[in-house]
Amino acid sequence: MSAPFVVAVDGPSGSGKSSVSRAVAAHLGGGYLDTGAMYRALTWWCLESGVDLTDLDAVAAAARDLPLAMSADPAEPGVLVGDDDVTEAIRTSQISARVSAVATNPGVRVALQEQQRDLITVIGDEQGSVVAEGRDVTTVVAPDADVRLLLTASEEARLRRRTVELHGAADEQALEATRDEVVRRDRDDSSVSQFLVAADGVLTLDTSEMTFEESVAAAIAAVDAVRSAG
Ligand code: DC
Repeated sequence: MSAPFVVAVDGPSGSGKSSVSRAVAAHLGGGYLDTGAMYRALTWWCLESGVDLTDLDAVAAAARDLPLAMSADPAEPGVLVGDDDVTEAIRTSQISARVSAVATNPGVRVALQEQQRDLITVIGDEQGSVVAEGRDVTTVVAPDADVRLLLTASEEARLRRRTVELHGAADEQALEATRDEVVRRDRDDSSVSQFLVAADGVLTLDTSEMTFEESVAAAIAAVDAVRSAG
């Protein structure tokens, strides 16, 4: 059996990394792993079970015990914690506002990174390929991936996308209402890991001026170039 083909994709929120990663996974006919969803699921579980997010040891212990099950289907990326389907609950602003407190906990990172490496191996072995996305996948979780991509976009482009996502349109009022959230998330996330500049050997795709379709085409071209060379 040949080794699974692994694609690692990192980038800030609003860079288009989730949509592009899922499209690349579908193109390859393989599996998909959203590592950010794991930090979100842990945050949900801590809040649900009354774990104090400022108690670093308790949250790290919860990360080691997290009863997580994730669908690797890029068309339907579901998340279960125990018997609870939290696919939608982990996207609420309540979770988004607290997840970086969990993701900056060093014990949490060690526990989840280990689980992410295991999942990449399992999904890759089962499906032949896997696209894993996050903030530190190209550098820490899967530095040996066959293809490593960093998706970036200017703050203005990311603000515009996030505004359309939240308000349906990006008029001046909606942009201003969203600006604080985007700036705060960038600041919180940048303390998690350094992902705004590509590490050695990581290909940067700046999607600021690209449509979704153009971003997907560029990512697929980068992946196919490596596949056909290998
Ligand atoms: O990509 P996202 O917005 O769903 O990520 C949620 C949070 O998890 C965000 O604060 C960044 C963090 N994260 C991380 O620290 N490492 C990853 N590999 C993925 C996400």
